[in-house]
Amino acid sequence: MESAKQLYAGKAKSVYEAQDPDHVVIAFRDDTSAFDGAKVEQLERKGAVNNQFNAFIMDRLAGAGIPTHFERRLSARESLCKRLEMIPVECVVRNLAAGSLCRRLGIDEGRELEPPTFELFLKDDERGDPMINESHVETFGWATSEQMARMKELTYQVNEVLRGLFLDGGMLLVDYKLEFGLFRGEVTLGDEFTPDGCRLWDRDTREKMDKDRFRQGLGSVVETYEGVARRLGLELELDD
Ligand code: TMP
Ligand code: ASP
Repeated sequence: MESAKQLYAGKAKSVYEAQDPDHVVIAFRDDTSAFDGAKVEQLERKGAVNNQFNAFIMDRLAGAGIPTHFERRLSARESLCKRLEMIPVECVVRNLAAGSLCRRLGIDEGRELEPPTFELFLKDDERGDPMINESHVETFGWATSEQMARMKELTYQVNEVLRGLFLDGGMLLVDYKLEFGLFRGEVTLGDEFTPDGCRLWDRDTREKMDKDRFRQGLGSVVETYEGVARRLGLELELDD
């Protein structure tokens, strides 16, 4: 990988050129960030755990007919993905109230949200990822209204697939954030699905099993992610 040209470095992943122009290699780093990059730490093994977790989830989503950028895992930390033209909008679905929803609206944490809510945020750390709506997306040209409708449809479809998957492992999918891009004009799921970008609680104890452990200084972050993987029946391979 050292010789490949780096195209982009985000807060937790780096993107490199692949052998053909339609693909990229995504490397999951151990960097863990919260609060729009204000808190950053290296957590040993996290990159490898998240890469394999993401591969497992993306395969499940593809199996359910959701177009994703994921092609295959290349090594413990790296995956080959389609090269998307990213849409700078974060799509969030919530099944239970937590995080910014509670802060913004004074809703008690853990309240069931029926129907699940759908929210949009602009991917812009400097502005603290402000909440936006569908008309902003169209007016400012981040996506067309048809693309926006498709993003919303796919984000809810992901909920149908993953709620049951996590419940089978004794976990509640509280909320999650998805990012999409275009591949040959088609709205395609990009970025990642890992415990860094969703909230998962133990079904019975409601213990937090996601990046809130890092945000709130609860400890055992990567160990807990490994526990989530184990509950899904995923065997992690940790060496490159
Ligand atoms: P929030 O409660 O902070 O708005 O986040 C809702 C969910 O989306 C939560 O699972 C974390 C995830 N998320 C990110 O991973 N990155 C982001 O930039 C945002 C806005 C949310
Ligand atoms: N927006 C993500 C979070 O709050 C990542 C970050 O802020 O650095 O967890």
